Amino acid sequence: MEYFFYDDYSEGAHPKILEALSCSNLEQERGYGEDTISTQAIKLIKQKIGNPNVAIHFVSSGMQANVITLISMLRHHESVITPETAHINLDEAGAIEAGGHKINAVQTPNGKLTSADIEDVLARNSGEHKVKPRVVAVAQATEWGTIYSKEELQALSNCCKKNNLYFYIDGARLGSALTAKNADITLLELSQLADAFYIGGTKNGALLGEAIVVSNPELQKDFRYHIKQRGALLAKGRVLGIQFAELFKDDLFFDLARHANVMAERLKEAISIKGFSFLSDSTTNQIFPILPNTHIEKLKKDYGFHPYGFNPWPKAEITEDTSAIRLVTSWATTEEAVNTFIADFNNLT
Ligand SMILES: Cc1ncc(COP(=O)(O)O)c(C=O)c1O
Repeated sequence: MEYFFYDDYSEGAHPKILEALSCSNLEQERGYGEDTISTQAIKLIKQKIGNPNVAIHFVSSGMQANVITLISMLRHHESVITPETAHINLDEAGAIEAGGHKINAVQTPNGKLTSADIEDVLARNSGEHKVKPRVVAVAQATEWGTIYSKEELQALSNCCKKNNLYFYIDGARLGSALTAKNADITLLELSQLADAFYIGGTKNGALLGEAIVVSNPELQKDFRYHIKQRGALLAKGRVLGIQFAELFKDDLFFDLARHANVMAERLKEAISIKGFSFLSDSTTNQIFPILPNTHIEKLKKDYGFHPYGFNPWPKAEITEDTSAIRLVTSWATTEEAVNTFIADFNNLT
């Protein structure tokens, strides 16, 4: 049977989450996120962050979190600076642009932005003939599985402060980034460096849902109006609260993400041992090996994964006979599946 390494949302939800949803099923609760469990979940997340001053709102998808938060930060003539490979730039059907805002997309190695990139965009966009950059948006982990170190995020945050820009972090895979072997940043530090970020649940064991964390008091004001106006204030907001309460009441959120990383690391090791290289230096749950096309064709018979025709950084290793693929592991990836993949991979000729 084919095993999927397509993405980290191929399965439903972690059993503890389903159980929590089922246990509270017949309890009557207030609507629109004002239920007791969502309130409890917010309290738990604030405790985990260690910052009582943040505001937390649940929405049902990563794209909602991005669009609602970014558009809440922007006036009509203002734009977002982000890496060219960012999800908001490539994979959100032009939602930011449809909201009336330009994206200043920057070509970056490994999907990561630097303060020099920001300064460069600012230098080329001054005065009212241009859009006015107002937000810097990066993803942690990035779309290429790489992560920013604390020092790098601090530098971006400083640059934003210096230039009166908001700093936003797309945390669709934040769990994976926080538990990566080279991670050195905490939720508390993120809440101090970014004006807003979100904690992704959909790709880390929740049935669906993301928790937007707004640190900047200026942005906290009226945030629920922005959610409502984009159709994202769920009458059954409890569904999101219950899941986040379960993820954060112990360390389930971190345990699940760590598992996904370990599974990816095993695949990465096995592929590296055979002498193959990777499109990016990922330490999280998405890896991008560059393999002979003949290997890829054989693997396709038993495994689901996406080919990566898009090669943003010219890589000498990619020739006519080789291609990059994306392998994604998740909270639900079994050791057995990884072991079988590795055994099959080792047998490829
Ligand atoms: C970095 C990043 N941000 C946002 C999203 C959007 O998440 P969703 O599909 O839940 O809207 C994705 C989805 O793959 C993503 O990879």
